[in-house]
Amino acid sequence: MSKDNPIVKKELKEVKNIIIVASGKGGVGKSTVAASLAMTLAMEGYSTGLLDADIYGPSLPMMFDIQQCRPTVVEENGKTMIEPIVRFGIKLMSIGLFVDPAKAAIWRGPLAASGMKQMIDQTQWGKLDYLIVDTPPGTGDIHISLLQEYKVSGVVIVTTPQMLSTGDVQKAINLYADKTIGVPVLGVIENMAWFTPENHPEEKYILFGKGGGDALAKKFSVPLLAQIPLNEKLCQECDYGKMNEVINSSLIKTHFDSIANQITKQLPVTE
Ligand SMILES: Nc1ncnc2c1ncn2[C@@H]1O[C@H](COP(=O)(O)OP(=O)(O)OP(=O)(O)O)[C@@H](O)[C@H]1O
Ligand SMILES: [Mg+2]
Repeated sequence: MSKDNPIVKKELKEVKNIIIVASGKGGVGKSTVAASLAMTLAMEGYSTGLLDADIYGPSLPMMFDIQQCRPTVVEENGKTMIEPIVRFGIKLMSIGLFVDPAKAAIWRGPLAASGMKQMIDQTQWGKLDYLIVDTPPGTGDIHISLLQEYKVSGVVIVTTPQMLSTGDVQKAINLYADKTIGVPVLGVIENMAWFTPENHPEEKYILFGKGGGDALAKKFSVPLLAQIPLNEKLCQECDYGKMNEVINSSLIKTHFDSIANQITKQLPVTE
């Protein structure tokens, strides 16, 4: 990009911070982390929104049990706007609330990116302290559009411990840290770090290797925000829309309280 033609990133007037949750890899827990972080921030009293930018595989409707909800579309000053669905105090928006996910899954990149932009621009977010954005795996059109077009406060990177995953994730960090369109990398979250059975909290089974999150954080000089264990309840409850139960389970809550604390310190909300 030349000096004469700098990138101008759009700021959402009433949204103080946009935080992206990303990873180069699929299935590592991006949506789980995004939803749990949004829940924690909302429970701490921050006005919070959660956008599902995973046009190809939206999971927010299921996680919040709002598959049957259809957002209301309203006209505001001649512009078509969408009212978000509110659950547990969080303003939620997902393409899965409008389009059959099987149909969205075959959209080409530019169409998917324009669907994502429409959801950001046309949702009536109102005043938000934090808008958390869950992204699809990879580093495609959706990620690049988000970075090029919006003033994003930072990105949280999710990985699993094994090296293969961290290899893919490095590509994503390199995109987010790009000099032209990049944003601050707030830290790395290592998910599925080990397994501890609910009824044997003293036991720790390392299933997918060890130390990948820490190595990644050190390599890019960013904080390792948390190591989240595999938890059988978390998996079931996310799949049944019980985010409130997930976040109140003691094994999970302490990790997300700590993550939210580190993020709100890095991105404090000022009046
Ligand atoms: N710490 C965990 N313990 C147990 N199950 C987990 C954990 N984290 C995520 N899961 C489960 O793993 C599956 C994948 O998680 P999730 O959908 O959050 O990953 P993702 O990175 O968003 O995937 P995709 O790339 O497909 O969007 C889900 O069924 C989720 O409930
Ligand atoms: Mg996901």
